[in-house]
Amino acid sequence: MALSRRHPAALFAVLAVALGTTGAAYAAISTGTAPKTGAASQTQVEEGKSLFLEGCSSCHGLAAQGSSDGPSLIGVGAAAVDFQVGTGRMPLAAPAIQAMPKTPVYNEEQIAALASYVASLGPGPAIPTSEMVDTSGADLALGGELFRTNCAQCHSVSAKGGALSQGRAAPSLMNAQGKEIYEAMVTGPQSMPIFSDKIMTLQNKKDIIRYLQELQKNQSPGGFSLGRLGPVTEGLFLFIAGLGALIVAAIWIGAKAK
Ligand code: HEC
Ligand code: HEC
Repeated sequence: MALSRRHPAALFAVLAVALGTTGAAYAAISTGTAPKTGAASQTQVEEGKSLFLEGCSSCHGLAAQGSSDGPSLIGVGAAAVDFQVGTGRMPLAAPAIQAMPKTPVYNEEQIAALASYVASLGPGPAIPTSEMVDTSGADLALGGELFRTNCAQCHSVSAKGGALSQGRAAPSLMNAQGKEIYEAMVTGPQSMPIFSDKIMTLQNKKDIIRYLQELQKNQSPGGFSLGRLGPVTEGLFLFIAGLGALIVAAIWIGAKAK
Protein backbone atom coordinates (compact mmCIF):
# COMPACT_ATOMS: atom_id res chain seq x y z
CA MET A 1 0.00 0.00 0.00
CA ALA A 2 2.84 2.32 0.93
CA LEU A 3 4.46 1.46 -2.34
CA SER A 4 1.42 2.35 -4.38
CA ARG A 5 1.20 5.67 -2.51
CA ARG A 6 4.84 6.45 -3.22
CA HIS A 7 4.60 5.33 -6.81
CA PRO A 8 3.06 8.50 -8.39
CA ALA A 9 5.60 10.66 -6.59
CA ALA A 10 8.48 8.50 -7.83
CA LEU A 11 7.12 8.63 -11.34
CA PHE A 12 6.93 12.41 -11.08
CA ALA A 13 10.55 12.58 -9.89
CA VAL A 14 11.71 10.37 -12.75
CA LEU A 15 9.80 12.52 -15.23
CA ALA A 16 11.22 15.71 -13.77
CA VAL A 17 14.76 14.37 -13.96
CA ALA A 18 14.19 13.13 -17.52
CA LEU A 19 12.73 16.45 -18.64
CA GLY A 20 15.53 18.31 -16.93
CA THR A 21 18.27 16.33 -18.62
CA THR A 22 16.55 16.46 -22.02
CA GLY A 23 16.22 20.24 -21.64
CA ALA A 24 19.83 20.61 -20.60
CA ALA A 25 21.01 18.33 -23.39
CA TYR A 26 18.92 20.28 -25.92
CA ALA A 27 20.30 23.58 -24.66
CA ALA A 28 23.84 22.22 -24.88
CA ILE A 29 23.27 20.96 -28.44
CA SER A 30 21.56 24.10 -29.68
CA THR A 31 24.10 26.49 -28.18
CA GLY A 32 26.76 24.10 -29.46
CA THR A 33 25.54 24.22 -33.07
CA ALA A 34 24.81 27.93 -33.35
CA PRO A 35 28.42 29.12 -33.27
CA LYS A 36 29.42 26.12 -35.36
CA THR A 37 27.29 27.18 -38.37
CA GLY A 38 28.54 30.73 -37.88
CA ALA A 39 32.10 29.44 -37.95
CA ALA A 40 31.42 27.39 -41.09
CA SER A 41 30.19 30.39 -43.06
CA GLN A 42 33.09 32.45 -41.69
CA THR A 43 35.42 29.80 -43.11
CA GLN A 44 33.58 30.05 -46.42
CA VAL A 45 34.06 33.82 -46.47
CA GLU A 46 37.78 33.34 -45.66
CA GLU A 47 38.13 30.74 -48.42
CA GLY A 48 36.35 33.07 -50.84
CA LYS A 49 38.62 35.91 -49.86
CA SER A 50 41.77 33.96 -50.62
CA LEU A 51 40.35 32.75 -53.96
CA PHE A 52 39.48 36.38 -54.68
CA LEU A 53 42.96 37.66 -53.85
CA GLU A 54 44.45 35.01 -56.12
CA GLY A 55 42.16 35.23 -59.14
CA CYS A 56 40.21 38.47 -59.11
CA SER A 57 42.01 41.21 -57.17
CA SER A 58 44.37 42.09 -60.03
CA CYS A 59 41.40 43.74 -61.75
CA HIS A 60 38.87 44.32 -58.97
CA GLY A 61 41.34 45.58 -56.35
CA LEU A 62 42.66 43.98 -53.15
CA ALA A 63 39.49 44.90 -51.22
CA ALA A 64 37.17 44.55 -54.25
CA GLN A 65 36.99 48.34 -54.38
CA GLY A 66 37.63 48.32 -58.14
CA SER A 67 40.49 49.53 -60.34
CA SER A 68 40.96 50.80 -63.86
CA ASP A 69 40.72 47.15 -65.01
CA GLY A 70 37.48 46.16 -63.29
CA PRO A 71 34.51 47.64 -61.44
CA SER A 72 34.02 47.69 -57.65
CA LEU A 73 32.22 44.58 -56.39
CA ILE A 74 31.05 46.10 -53.13
CA GLY A 75 27.29 45.69 -52.99
CA VAL A 76 26.92 43.72 -56.26
CA GLY A 77 25.74 40.75 -54.17
CA ALA A 78 26.20 36.99 -54.27
CA ALA A 79 23.90 36.76 -57.31
CA ALA A 80 26.30 38.78 -59.48
CA VAL A 81 29.24 36.53 -58.56
CA ASP A 82 27.20 33.35 -59.07
CA PHE A 83 26.10 34.64 -62.48
CA GLN A 84 29.47 35.97 -63.67
CA VAL A 85 31.63 33.10 -62.42
CA GLY A 86 28.95 30.42 -62.96
CA THR A 87 28.58 31.30 -66.66
CA GLY A 88 32.37 31.45 -67.02
CA ARG A 89 32.35 35.19 -67.85
CA MET A 90 34.66 35.78 -64.87
CA PRO A 91 37.56 35.64 -64.35
CA LEU A 92 38.03 37.75 -67.46
CA ALA A 93 41.08 36.43 -69.29
CA ALA A 94 42.06 39.80 -70.73
CA PRO A 95 40.46 43.22 -71.19
CA ALA A 96 37.64 42.74 -73.71
CA ILE A 97 34.67 44.60 -75.17
CA GLN A 98 32.39 42.06 -73.53
CA ALA A 99 32.90 39.19 -71.13
CA MET A 100 31.89 36.03 -72.97
CA PRO A 101 30.31 32.91 -71.43
CA LYS A 102 32.71 29.95 -71.33
CA THR A 103 33.31 26.82 -69.29
CA PRO A 104 33.48 27.92 -65.63
CA VAL A 105 36.98 28.00 -64.13
CA TYR A 106 35.81 27.44 -60.54
CA ASN A 107 33.74 24.57 -59.13
CA GLU A 108 30.42 25.05 -57.32
CA GLU A 109 31.95 25.14 -53.86
CA GLN A 110 34.51 27.76 -54.88
CA ILE A 111 31.83 29.86 -56.58
CA ALA A 112 29.77 29.71 -53.36
CA ALA A 113 32.83 30.82 -51.37
CA LEU A 114 33.59 33.72 -53.75
CA ALA A 115 29.91 34.71 -53.61
CA SER A 116 29.78 34.74 -49.82
CA TYR A 117 32.98 36.77 -49.65
CA VAL A 118 31.53 39.43 -51.98
CA ALA A 119 28.18 39.31 -50.14
CA SER A 120 30.05 39.96 -46.87
CA LEU A 121 31.33 43.29 -48.25
CA GLY A 122 27.93 44.92 -48.60
CA PRO A 123 24.26 44.10 -49.09
CA GLY A 124 23.24 43.04 -52.61
CA PRO A 125 20.97 40.57 -54.38
CA ALA A 126 21.30 37.00 -53.08
CA ILE A 127 21.45 33.78 -55.11
CA PRO A 128 17.80 32.75 -55.63
CA THR A 129 16.41 29.72 -53.82
CA SER A 130 14.80 27.02 -55.99
CA GLU A 131 11.41 28.28 -54.77
CA MET A 132 12.17 31.73 -56.19
CA VAL A 133 12.64 30.33 -59.68
CA ASP A 134 9.85 27.76 -59.47
CA THR A 135 7.56 28.66 -62.37
CA SER A 136 4.74 26.17 -61.76
CA GLY A 137 2.24 28.93 -60.88
CA ALA A 138 3.53 31.47 -63.41
CA ASP A 139 1.43 33.19 -66.10
CA LEU A 140 2.77 32.26 -69.54
CA ALA A 141 0.81 34.86 -71.55
CA LEU A 142 1.75 37.68 -69.19
CA GLY A 143 5.36 36.47 -69.30
CA GLY A 144 5.33 36.84 -73.09
CA GLU A 145 3.94 40.35 -72.82
CA LEU A 146 6.52 41.34 -70.20
CA PHE A 147 9.30 39.84 -72.29
CA ARG A 148 8.27 41.77 -75.39
CA THR A 149 8.08 45.09 -73.53
CA ASN A 150 11.19 44.70 -71.33
CA CYS A 151 13.66 42.37 -73.00
CA ALA A 152 12.94 41.93 -76.73
CA GLN A 153 14.49 45.24 -77.79
CA CYS A 154 17.90 43.76 -76.97
CA HIS A 155 17.45 39.99 -77.00
CA SER A 156 15.02 40.05 -80.01
CA VAL A 157 11.41 38.90 -80.01
CA SER A 158 12.49 35.29 -80.59
CA ALA A 159 14.96 35.56 -77.63
CA LYS A 160 17.73 34.39 -79.95
CA GLY A 161 19.80 37.48 -79.20
CA GLY A 162 20.69 40.60 -81.08
CA ALA A 163 23.52 42.98 -81.88
CA LEU A 164 23.93 46.12 -79.78
CA SER A 165 26.09 49.17 -80.48
CA GLN A 166 29.91 49.24 -80.20
CA GLY A 167 30.43 45.61 -81.16
CA ARG A 168 28.41 44.33 -78.22
CA ALA A 169 25.62 41.79 -78.36
CA ALA A 170 22.75 40.64 -76.18
CA PRO A 171 23.14 36.84 -76.08
CA SER A 172 20.58 34.26 -77.10
CA LEU A 173 18.48 33.13 -74.14
CA MET A 174 17.73 29.72 -75.64
CA ASN A 175 19.97 27.85 -73.20
CA ALA A 176 19.65 30.04 -70.11
CA GLN A 177 18.54 28.25 -66.92
CA GLY A 178 15.91 29.75 -64.62
CA LYS A 179 18.49 30.72 -62.00
CA GLU A 180 20.69 32.42 -64.61
CA ILE A 181 17.72 34.39 -66.01
CA TYR A 182 16.76 35.53 -62.52
CA GLU A 183 20.35 36.52 -61.69
CA ALA A 184 20.74 38.44 -64.96
CA MET A 185 17.55 40.37 -64.15
CA VAL A 186 18.56 41.33 -60.60
CA THR A 187 22.19 42.16 -61.39
CA GLY A 188 22.04 43.66 -64.91
CA PRO A 189 25.30 42.39 -66.42
CA GLN A 190 27.15 44.89 -68.60
CA SER A 191 24.68 47.07 -70.55
CA MET A 192 21.60 45.19 -69.40
CA PRO A 193 19.40 47.19 -67.00
CA ILE A 194 18.70 45.95 -63.46
CA PHE A 195 15.16 44.71 -62.91
CA SER A 196 14.97 45.00 -59.12
CA ASP A 197 11.94 43.71 -57.24
CA LYS A 198 10.61 47.27 -57.08
CA ILE A 199 10.63 47.56 -60.87
CA MET A 200 9.50 44.01 -61.55
CA THR A 201 7.94 41.79 -58.89
CA LEU A 202 9.23 38.31 -58.17
CA GLN A 203 5.99 36.92 -59.63
CA ASN A 204 6.54 38.81 -62.92
CA LYS A 205 10.11 37.52 -63.07
CA LYS A 206 8.70 34.00 -62.76
CA ASP A 207 6.25 34.77 -65.59
CA ILE A 208 9.14 35.77 -67.87
CA ILE A 209 11.20 32.71 -66.91
CA ARG A 210 8.19 30.49 -67.64
CA TYR A 211 7.77 32.15 -71.06
CA LEU A 212 11.45 31.66 -71.92
CA GLN A 213 11.32 28.03 -70.82
CA GLU A 214 8.35 27.55 -73.12
CA LEU A 215 10.26 29.14 -76.03
CA GLN A 216 13.21 26.86 -75.30
CA LYS A 217 10.90 23.84 -75.57
CA ASN A 218 9.69 24.74 -79.07
CA GLN A 219 12.50 26.68 -80.59
CA SER A 220 10.98 28.41 -83.65
CA PRO A 221 7.82 30.27 -82.60
CA GLY A 222 6.41 32.02 -85.69
CA GLY A 223 8.26 34.06 -88.28
CA PHE A 224 11.18 32.64 -90.20
CA SER A 225 14.42 31.85 -88.46
CA LEU A 226 17.70 33.18 -89.80
CA GLY A 227 19.41 29.88 -89.26
CA ARG A 228 20.09 30.13 -85.50
CA LEU A 229 23.71 30.80 -86.22
CA GLY A 230 24.16 32.88 -83.09
CA PRO A 231 23.25 36.18 -81.53
CA VAL A 232 24.76 38.33 -84.28
CA THR A 233 22.92 36.75 -87.22
CA GLU A 234 19.97 39.08 -87.27
CA GLY A 235 22.09 42.19 -86.77
CA LEU A 236 24.50 40.98 -89.43
CA PHE A 237 21.62 40.35 -91.80
CA LEU A 238 20.31 43.88 -91.33
CA PHE A 239 23.83 45.27 -91.66
CA ILE A 240 24.52 43.49 -94.96
CA ALA A 241 21.07 44.24 -96.39
CA GLY A 242 21.34 47.89 -95.31
CA LEU A 243 24.85 48.26 -96.70
CA GLY A 244 23.72 46.66 -99.96
CA ALA A 245 20.86 49.15 -100.24
CA LEU A 246 23.27 52.04 -99.59
CA ILE A 247 25.66 50.84 -102.32
CA VAL A 248 22.80 50.49 -104.80
CA ALA A 249 21.64 54.01 -103.91
CA ALA A 250 25.16 55.40 -104.35
CA ILE A 251 25.54 53.77 -107.77
CA TRP A 252 22.13 55.10 -108.80
CA ILE A 253 22.97 58.64 -107.67
CA GLY A 254 26.39 58.39 -109.41
CA ALA A 255 24.72 57.20 -112.63
CA LYS A 256 22.17 60.03 -112.49
CA ALA A 257 24.90 62.64 -111.92
CA LYS A 258 26.66 61.66 -115.15
C1 HEC B 1 41.21 40.79 -66.31
C2 HEC B 1 40.42 41.53 -65.35
C3 HEC B 1 39.37 40.80 -64.50
C4 HEC B 1 39.54 39.69 -63.72
C5 HEC B 1 40.78 38.86 -63.51
C6 HEC B 1 38.25 39.45 -63.09
N1 HEC B 1 37.36 40.41 -63.47
FE1 HEC B 1 35.40 40.56 -62.87
N2 HEC B 1 35.12 42.12 -64.15
C7 HEC B 1 36.09 42.69 -64.96
C8 HEC B 1 35.48 43.68 -65.81
C9 HEC B 1 36.21 44.55 -66.84
C10 HEC B 1 34.09 43.68 -65.51
C11 HEC B 1 32.99 44.47 -66.18
C12 HEC B 1 32.56 43.58 -67.33
C13 HEC B 1 31.31 43.89 -68.02
O1 HEC B 1 30.61 44.81 -67.58
O2 HEC B 1 31.00 43.18 -68.99
C14 HEC B 1 33.90 42.70 -64.45
C15 HEC B 1 32.68 42.41 -63.86
C16 HEC B 1 32.50 41.55 -62.79
C17 HEC B 1 31.27 41.38 -62.06
C18 HEC B 1 29.96 42.09 -62.35
C19 HEC B 1 29.84 43.28 -61.48
C20 HEC B 1 28.47 43.87 -61.54
O3 HEC B 1 28.35 45.10 -61.38
O4 HEC B 1 27.49 43.14 -61.74
C21 HEC B 1 31.51 40.46 -61.08
C22 HEC B 1 30.53 39.96 -60.04
C23 HEC B 1 32.90 40.06 -61.21
N3 HEC B 1 33.48 40.73 -62.24
C24 HEC B 1 33.51 39.11 -60.40
C25 HEC B 1 34.80 38.64 -60.62
C26 HEC B 1 35.38 37.56 -59.85
C27 HEC B 1 34.70 36.85 -58.70
C28 HEC B 1 36.62 37.34 -60.37
C29 HEC B 1 37.63 36.29 -59.96
C30 HEC B 1 37.18 34.93 -60.00
C31 HEC B 1 36.83 38.30 -61.44
N4 HEC B 1 35.70 39.07 -61.57
C32 HEC B 1 37.99 38.42 -62.20
C33 HEC B 1 37.43 42.37 -64.95
C34 HEC B 1 38.00 41.25 -64.34
C1 HEC C 1 19.55 47.19 -73.02
C2 HEC C 1 19.62 45.84 -73.51
C3 HEC C 1 19.09 44.70 -72.66
C4 HEC C 1 17.82 44.55 -72.13
C5 HEC C 1 16.65 45.51 -72.18
C6 HEC C 1 17.80 43.23 -71.49
N1 HEC C 1 19.03 42.62 -71.62
FE1 HEC C 1 19.54 40.78 -70.96
N2 HEC C 1 21.46 41.07 -71.57
C7 HEC C 1 21.90 42.17 -72.26
C8 HEC C 1 23.35 42.04 -72.47
C9 HEC C 1 24.25 43.02 -73.18
C10 HEC C 1 23.73 40.81 -71.90
C11 HEC C 1 25.13 40.20 -71.86
C12 HEC C 1 25.90 40.71 -70.69
C13 HEC C 1 27.29 40.14 -70.65
O1 HEC C 1 27.65 39.32 -71.47
O2 HEC C 1 28.04 40.52 -69.74
C14 HEC C 1 22.50 40.23 -71.34
C15 HEC C 1 22.48 38.99 -70.71
C16 HEC C 1 21.33 38.35 -70.33
C17 HEC C 1 21.26 37.01 -69.82
C18 HEC C 1 22.44 36.04 -69.67
C19 HEC C 1 22.46 35.05 -70.80
C20 HEC C 1 23.71 34.22 -70.84
O3 HEC C 1 24.23 34.00 -71.94
O4 HEC C 1 24.20 33.82 -69.80
C21 HEC C 1 19.97 36.74 -69.53
C22 HEC C 1 19.40 35.45 -69.00
C23 HEC C 1 19.21 37.94 -69.85
N3 HEC C 1 20.07 38.90 -70.33
C24 HEC C 1 17.85 38.08 -69.68
C25 HEC C 1 17.13 39.27 -69.89
C26 HEC C 1 15.73 39.44 -69.57
C27 HEC C 1 14.83 38.35 -69.02
C28 HEC C 1 15.43 40.75 -69.86
C29 HEC C 1 14.10 41.46 -69.67
C30 HEC C 1 13.52 41.40 -68.34
C31 HEC C 1 16.62 41.37 -70.41
N4 HEC C 1 17.64 40.44 -70.39
C32 HEC C 1 16.70 42.69 -70.84
C33 HEC C 1 21.15 43.25 -72.67
C34 HEC C 1 19.83 43.48 -72.33
